[in-house]
Amino acid sequence: MAKERTLSIIKPDAILKNVVGDIQSRIESAGLSIIAVKMTRLSKKQAGLFYEMHKGKDFYEYLIKFMTSGPVIVQVLEGENAIRNYRKVMGATMFGTAEKGTIREKHATSNAHNAVHGSDSPENAIREIGFFFPERQIYPKENYKLSHDPNA
Ligand code: RTP
Ligand code: MG
Repeated sequence: MAKERTLSIIKPDAILKNVVGDIQSRIESAGLSIIAVKMTRLSKKQAGLFYEMHKGKDFYEYLIKFMTSGPVIVQVLEGENAIRNYRKVMGATMFGTAEKGTIREKHATSNAHNAVHGSDSPENAIREIGFFFPERQIYPKENYKLSHDPNA
């Protein structure tokens, strides 16, 4: 299978708890490469647009409040089956149901405060990546080669 990209968000709860490094380490250990990353704080408008598919659901209002309550780290991950692979690394959404060894099993404290977001389909991955990153801010590994170290 060809390489695939997915959008990952490390949510405000995880940043406040200093578990960014743990989350990125789990991502990289699963064979996914971080090929774009930035820290930002979403406005209400941005969060509303990003989560527009959830508009009207009972958790929507709180989701927007939570996601704008502090900074987030948004990143593009690349690898084989990146979308499915990363969702496996994240674990199930509902609090208490995340599989052993997953990010959410370790770091979620409620249905909303669940540490991470991941795209759920190829179409949504394209939309979500484009929401945060122009192509020039994405650095796929095949475009780069380490220079030869003359002192090695
Ligand atoms: P995500 O979009 O963040 O990767 O998570 P997901 O696909 O596993 O979950 P989704 O159904 O898309 O829901 C988006 C986010 O809304 C919050 N949520 N709260 N019943 C609730 O209180 C509830 N359900 C969902 C979570 O933060 C979830 O990640
Ligand atoms: Mg989702």
